[in-house]
Amino acid sequence: MKILGIETSCDETSAAVYDGKKILSNVIFSQVDTHRIYGGVVPEIAAREHLNRLPAVVDEALCKAQLTLKQIDGIAVTYGPGLAGPLIVGVSYAKGLAYAAGKKFTGVNHIEAHLLSPFLENKDFTFPYAGIVVSGGHTNIYIANDFGGYELMASTRDDAAGEAFDKAAKMLGLPYPGGPEVSKAAMKGNHKKIVFPQAQMKDNSMDFSFSGLKTSVLYYIQRNQDKIKSGEVTIEDIAAAFQKTIIRTILNKTAKILKNRKIKTLSIAGGVAANISLKQELKKFSDDRKINFFAPSNLLCTDNGAMIAYVGYERIKRGLLSGMDIEAQPDLKIEIKGHGEEK
Ligand code: KG4
Ligand code: ZN
Repeated sequence: MKILGIETSCDETSAAVYDGKKILSNVIFSQVDTHRIYGGVVPEIAAREHLNRLPAVVDEALCKAQLTLKQIDGIAVTYGPGLAGPLIVGVSYAKGLAYAAGKKFTGVNHIEAHLLSPFLENKDFTFPYAGIVVSGGHTNIYIANDFGGYELMASTRDDAAGEAFDKAAKMLGLPYPGGPEVSKAAMKGNHKKIVFPQAQMKDNSMDFSFSGLKTSVLYYIQRNQDKIKSGEVTIEDIAAAFQKTIIRTILNKTAKILKNRKIKTLSIAGGVAANISLKQELKKFSDDRKINFFAPSNLLCTDNGAMIAYVGYERIKRGLLSGMDIEAQPDLKIEIKGHGEEK
């Protein structure tokens, strides 16, 4: 079975083909150059760009997979969560294609796709596992027991990790997109020069909160202009200390979650998982605890059609098809079995 996956939830226009064993193609057109001048993604412009690019991106994905649309068995599309306009473009296009070509069709949850993305490259990756999903809009930790059987162990109360990276970048005068820029700067900095506090939940909850960290960075920059100007403390040092705090927070929550459960596999996915230091520290954390650690390669951490095609494959295999009445759902939640609601 060959599945075409379409992803347009934010600023990556992507289409991919997955055949149940391997990714036959994964074409990603990043709109980052268009949005950079605005310092962030402009939803209306993103939607228009998806509209312009998607047909060619789909053609290229089919071409690279050496398949015609006729040879495709099903079409999967992200229908949420994400930006309304961009989602509507992808969903409408995929519906039209599936209807006109008479293909099986299914809508995919973008966060579920990130959560399951480690399956794409690792034959040894199996349920159950603890999956950290860190993206522009989410900082969630799930325990995935099987396909569709997810427990939400921690989620974000305010800013997501990626959002915090993007906002910190702005404060540090680094260009959009902030995450990769902060991580590049952090490599050259000394995190030990500054200690930013980690947010502690009063109710002992596992949830994340990064808005306090963002404020700490802002105050630090405002109050230490002399040190910054004299070079005693550099932008790189602040970036390193900020990144270290995010990593420590993620490690602490993960440790608490794993302590109470007999889980032997840990994974991380989503855009922030492209952060090399975060991956390295999680690998060490896992080795120390003798648990397996899996992370997708960077191209499969950030938004991509392959993860949508993968979930689409698993859904269509199980007969989980969507009707032509499916609509974009910007606030779509993962269906949770047990433990907590997604916030
Ligand atoms: O999953 P993703 O591509 O899109 C969403 O679904 O949100 O994640 C995008 C987020 C952005 O906030 C971006 O700054 C962040 O991932 N990001 C990173 C890195 N690369 C991308 N954050 C930290 N370090 C990186 N290397
Ligand atoms: Zn994403």
